[in-house]
Amino acid sequence: MARFILLVTVLCFVNLILETTDGLALPSPKACVIGAGYGGLASARYLKDYGVDFMVFEAQRGFGGNWRFQDDIEEDGLPPFTGVYKKLRTNTPRQTMEFSNFTFPDSTPSYPSAPCFYKYLQNFTREFDLEKYIQFRSLVTSVKWADKQWEIAYTKTDTGAAETVNCDYVIVSIGHYNRPKVPKFEGQDSFRGNIIHTQKYKDPEVFRDRRVLLVGAGASGLDLATHLSNVTSRLVHSHHLRYNQPYFGENYVKKPDIKMFTSTGVIFQDDSYEEIEDVILATGYDFDFSFLDESCGLTVSSKYVLPVYQYMVNIRRPSMVILALPKPIITRALDVQAEYAAALIAGKFQLPSQGDMLKSWLKHVYELQSKGKKIVDVNFLDNLQDQYFANLTEEAGITRVAPVLTDIRDFNAVNRLEDLLNYRDYDYELLDAHSYKRFYNPRNETCDIKVS
Ligand SMILES: Cc1cc2nc3c(=O)[nH]c(=O)nc-3n(C[C@H](O)[C@H](O)[C@H](O)COP(=O)(O)OP(=O)(O)OC[C@H]3O[C@@H](n4cnc5c(N)ncnc54)[C@H](O)[C@@H]3O)c2cc1C
Ligand SMILES: *[C@@H]1O[C@H](CO)[C@@H](O)[C@H](O)[C@H]1NC(C)=O
Ligand SMILES: *[C@@H]1O[C@H](CO)[C@@H](O)[C@H](O)[C@H]1NC(C)=O
Ligand SMILES: *[C@@H]1O[C@H](CO)[C@@H](O)[C@H](O)[C@H]1NC(C)=O
Ligand SMILES: *[C@@H]1O[C@H](CO)[C@@H](O)[C@H](O)[C@H]1NC(C)=O
Ligand SMILES: *[C@@H]1O[C@H](CO)[C@@H](O)[C@H](O)[C@H]1NC(C)=O
Repeated sequence: MARFILLVTVLCFVNLILETTDGLALPSPKACVIGAGYGGLASARYLKDYGVDFMVFEAQRGFGGNWRFQDDIEEDGLPPFTGVYKKLRTNTPRQTMEFSNFTFPDSTPSYPSAPCFYKYLQNFTREFDLEKYIQFRSLVTSVKWADKQWEIAYTKTDTGAAETVNCDYVIVSIGHYNRPKVPKFEGQDSFRGNIIHTQKYKDPEVFRDRRVLLVGAGASGLDLATHLSNVTSRLVHSHHLRYNQPYFGENYVKKPDIKMFTSTGVIFQDDSYEEIEDVILATGYDFDFSFLDESCGLTVSSKYVLPVYQYMVNIRRPSMVILALPKPIITRALDVQAEYAAALIAGKFQLPSQGDMLKSWLKHVYELQSKGKKIVDVNFLDNLQDQYFANLTEEAGITRVAPVLTDIRDFNAVNRLEDLLNYRDYDYELLDAHSYKRFYNPRNETCDIKVS
């Protein structure tokens, strides 16, 4: 009899434990951050600094987002979350990419390599001891408004388990290069060669002695032209950018837009034909905020998210902040957006009423309209970046990003197109908040960042 009672007691106790652990997968933190790239890491730094209880959910096995190089493998069955490739150097001076009060060692060139930038992110993460706040291999699949709290559903990519967590605030920091933009061309299905998007481009050697068509002249398109022109047997570059085209060698030829594919090559708008073996689409990226449920109160598309206050606060549900929406911005802008989001969550300042936020957003929409922009451009910041920084500081009392960083951005954006092959041979030095020095300093990279 006594034995029976003991058994029942033990069973009940075990059952109780199971129930408890079952129903309580995670304590619910005050703030949840989605993504552990630059923006998510910056958010973690400030949330920690302000003493907010928070967690970061990251789909991959490691942090660093775009800067975490991956070979063509699709880790854990996920699409690659990085576009970084071999020989990549930043196309913007590191000074415009550094976190607040956390510079690269002085010996680092202004245009570091991608591995050096990744080391910098590792160094930052260790310095502020952020890794323990990140839950890896957690792919967020939906964010819902569930009666006064956010319900975040995610899949553990190691076990396939579906989990949820509730939070009072959510910072969405999944970057703005979410889904490769892949145009379709007439006759493409009959083409016998290979077609890839730059997200899958990793190494120029794959294209040695091949006849390659490169499509597009954005940041990646121009960069790949320099990496491929002397490796391929012919590099056909289809684009309509006006810039100071350097001499790319005798195998390079510029073409207008594509008219159609044939089985062996491509016909262009000028009716010229080129035999092609491989096509690389440097056609950019779209947004993908499809995991934001309707209950979030936002309208999301592959091009825009609306309505948002200060280019980031969800006006209908102001406990959600989305980083990296405005374009063009310097990477440092994500740091100040993160500081703003953390200050908001920590109660350091109050947002205007929803009505006033909506008015401010509508004013922005009218201004865009008067410049001839359409609704797809609603997150477009134009050349107002420095004013944006000033506004964020005025509203939230956070760090003022020095105007000199926007000056450097503006200069670099033009200079890159004037001197594509050599612009990275210069270094920048900040003199004060308003001025900088730029000087010729070609050298091999030094990246004196210790990563233990
Ligand atoms: C090839 C390339 C080169 C670039 N070079 C420069 C440059 O030279 N200078 C510059 O200023 N900018 C550059 N950029 C822009 C770059 O996007 C920023 O530098 C920076 O990486 C943006 O940080 P982020 O945190 O917003 O996004 P990301 O770095 O993309 O990080 C987003 C993170 O969110 C995670 N994530 C996404 N979806 C989910 C989900 N559903 N659930 C959980 N986690 C998720 C991803 O795994 C990733 O870790 C470049 C971009 C590309 C593609
Ligand atoms: C950066 O340093 C300045 C000057 O020391 C300080 O006022 C500011 O609060 C610091 N910012 C951060 C984010 O630590
Ligand atoms: C390619 O080779 C040519 C001829 O040797 C050279 O002039 C040119 O600078 C090279 N281009 C690049 C992008 O390295
Ligand atoms: C900055 O704030 C002013 C005053 O509210 C506003 O008129 C302007 O549009 C804002 N600019 C940006 C870029 O946010
Ligand atoms: C860079 O390194 C290469 C090979 O290590 C060397 O040949 C070259 O002289 C170096 N260039 C500079 C500017 O130091
Ligand atoms: C970051 O890098 C610097 C420069 O190498 C080094 O002094 C520092 O110890 C590193 N910090 C951490 C936490 O690794």
